[in-house]
Amino acid sequence: MSDDHAKATADVRYPDLEGQRVLVTGGASGLGLAMAKAFAGQGCRVALLDLDREGLDRALEALPSDALGHCGSVADEADVGRTFEAMDEAFGGVDVAINNAGIAMNVPTLELTAKAWQKALDVNLTGVFHCSQAAARRMIANGSGVIVNLASMYGVVAAPERLAYCATKSGVAMMTKALAIEWADKGIRVNAVAPGYVRTALVEELVEADRLDETALNRRTPLGRLGTVEEVADLAVFLASDKARYITGQVVGVDGGWTAYGYV
Ligand SMILES: NC(=O)c1ccc[n+]([C@@H]2O[C@H](COP(=O)([O-])OP(=O)(O)OC[C@H]3O[C@@H](n4cnc5c(N)ncnc54)[C@H](O)[C@@H]3O)[C@@H](O)[C@H]2O)c1
Repeated sequence: MSDDHAKATADVRYPDLEGQRVLVTGGASGLGLAMAKAFAGQGCRVALLDLDREGLDRALEALPSDALGHCGSVADEADVGRTFEAMDEAFGGVDVAINNAGIAMNVPTLELTAKAWQKALDVNLTGVFHCSQAAARRMIANGSGVIVNLASMYGVVAAPERLAYCATKSGVAMMTKALAIEWADKGIRVNAVAPGYVRTALVEELVEADRLDETALNRRTPLGRLGTVEEVADLAVFLASDKARYITGQVVGVDGGWTAYGYV
């Protein structure tokens, strides 16, 4: 992989993002952390909500000193409320909400328990609901705001043994459209990014442990490789910026052409 694919957004400037107040859920690692860094690189003030306290501490070390970290779950309305209140206190509100926290669930459907199914709904869907509602209350009072949801290519095309993941991510795609049209006249844009396979630490581990066949994934991907976290962050930053001011209600793929490919 050439280094160019892993270049952060910092070489593209969006001056309107300077000083914007950005919440990234699930921001302690993976795509969330990459997006938090990319927004911080644009001069944004960043807050993270994540379950992982140690991960949050590590993430905060990699972010500007005014970044906030709140330990809690997007599925818990009270945790979400406390996070937004902390942003109100420290930053005076929120301009951009990145609904990134999400869980994968790779299990044959006959072995999927009702409890696990419910957990996927709670995190991947209810979490987006709680955070979008709390964000929009503030954005409507402000007259503007942007929400970017993390959907997935597996909310667009299906994969076996991922029932809860596919169902919730297609739900996120539809929530994106429903919220976009409901809040358009309030000055809020809502879009989603739908990544394909991205080279996160977890994916690296699975490849190294031979539990994921990178060669097969590369062969199936028209662009011939996995995506990088920076390539997803680039899209999220663009969608949050004023350059995307006429874009709302869209689910934008960043998948190397995976979902466009109809063969095999
Ligand atoms: N990595 C990929 O290839 C890929 C592809 C498509 C979509 N996505 C989506 O992108 C998002 C991020 O994926 P990732 O690969 O970076 O995942 P990850 O597992 O590396 O990171 C997810 C973060 O969310 C946090 N989290 C989990 N449950 C939470 C909860 N209830 N409340 C708050 N935080 C919680 C975790 O602690 C973790 O820090 C997810 O929504 C995922 O479905 C990822």
